[in-house]
Order: sequence, then C-alpha cells, then structure tokens
Amino acid sequence: MNQTSKLILSHKDVQEMLDSMLRDSGPWWDFFYEDRTKKVPFFVHVPDENLKQYMDSNLIPIGKVLELGCGPGRNAIYLAEQGCQVDAVDISSEAIKWARERAKDLSAVIEFLCCDIFSLPIQAESYEFVYDSGCFHHIAPHRRMSYVELVSKALQPGGHFALSCFTDGPNNPATQGSMLSDWDVYKLGSLKGGLGYSPDKLKAIFHEFEPIEIRKMKKIEQPAEVFGESFLWTALFRKKT
Ligand SMILES: C[S@@+](CC[C@H](N)C(=O)[O-])C[C@H]1O[C@@H](n2cnc3c(N)ncnc32)[C@H](O)[C@@H]1O
Repeated sequence: MNQTSKLILSHKDVQEMLDSMLRDSGPWWDFFYEDRTKKVPFFVHVPDENLKQYMDSNLIPIGKVLELGCGPGRNAIYLAEQGCQVDAVDISSEAIKWARERAKDLSAVIEFLCCDIFSLPIQAESYEFVYDSGCFHHIAPHRRMSYVELVSKALQPGGHFALSCFTDGPNNPATQGSMLSDWDVYKLGSLKGGLGYSPDKLKAIFHEFEPIEIRKMKKIEQPAEVFGESFLWTALFRKKT
C-alpha cells in the first residue's frame, strides 16, 4: 500500500505521518559526518564545559550513564574516563564509527549503539544520568513527548538529566536556533537546522523534572580542555523521587 494512502489508526501512525513530513535524520547525519576535517565547533575532542563542571562539583555521581545523540563520542569518552559506565546512542553510523575509533585510541570502554533514540530498548530506571549535547534541538515537536518519556523511563528516581541546546530569542543575534513555532515546522516541512529554546520553554517541556541549573554555556576559545559556545543553553534537571 502507498504510504500516503495508509489509514491512520493509532498515535504511532500519526507520529509516522508527521515524521514523513520532515527529512530522514540518519542519512542526513551520515552525510554531515563524512568529512571529519570540516570546521564544525563540536568536532573537537573535548567535553562540554558544563559537563566537566557537574563532574568536578560532584553534582553527578559516578554511575550508569545514557548519552542521547552522542555523535563522535567526546562526552561519552570523557564520562567513561571519569569512571562512569556509559551507553551512548546515535542515529548516524558515521558518527558511531568515528566515536568507536576515538574510544579505541584511548582504550575507553563504552557501549555505542547506532539507532534512533526512539527505537532504543531501555530497561526502566536503569540510569543515574542521562546526557544530551545538541540532539534535543533536532527532535521534531511531535516527538518531544516521547523524548521526555524516554528520559523519565531511563532515569532512576533522583537521577539527573542534562542537555545543551540552541538558544532562541529576537534579542539574541548569536543564536543558531531557528525561531519557528511548532506549527510552522510542519507548514515548512523543516526544523531549519534545529529549534531554538528559551529557559521557560525548557521548564515547560521538562516540567516533571526539578530544574537545578539553566544557564548559557560559556564560550571557550579552542584549543582548550573543554568545549563551550554561548549560543547554547545548558540545563540540568533532577527526576523527582
Ligand atoms: C549536533 S550533533 C551533537 C553530537 C554530539 N553530542 C556532540 O556534541 O559532539 C547531534 C547528534 O544527534 C544525533 N541525532 C539526531 N537525531 C537523533 C535521533 N532521533 N536518534 C539518535 N541520534 C540522533 C545526530 O546524528 C548527531 O550526531
């Protein structure tokens, strides 16, 4: 049966219909990672400055971690080096290939998985920390609720979730996030490179979690021991007990 003549019978069918209005992420990201010499800020091999801050100040315990949209693995490798047991997932096979090569060079033991985060088999409440650096702003509005459910399911009560994502706002010319409304995304058939968020939007989306800290990421000139760009928010939440 032609996909467009398929009868919509479930919420899953609605999600798949909306997915089909937007680009297919996997092939797009594979193409993005083909040239590793491109000047892409997050191609550096150092962890996010906020992540290092959480670890240095013992905000996050050494334990089991899930990283969503790990890309070439810089944060997963850092967390493994701190003693965490890390599962790291990305939809791009090119990204996972690069991440595995980087981890092998450093003898870091990480479970890298190549799949869509929404197809990830997750054992309930099995992680102390879920981290996402730059994946959430590429998630389409109709998948956000599933994203929150995924994080909530993965975390133990009292566990932490942190993300970095594009800033929004007409008063912020430095942002790289698009200013589209959720409705416009489907009218245009695009997220226009990734959605920009405000702290209020993040609090509304993750309202079932307790916000611990939401701040701009610090701009860090490279080369350096950490990565940071001021067009990103960093947000740390705790799952309520
Ligand atoms: C901006 S990159 C950030 C990569 C990495 N976290 C970093 O900071 O170096 C976003 C990543 O999210 C991944 N991604 C996007 N949508 C995804 C999905 N639905 N499931 C898994 N990974 C996804 C992309 O393949 C890409 O590697």
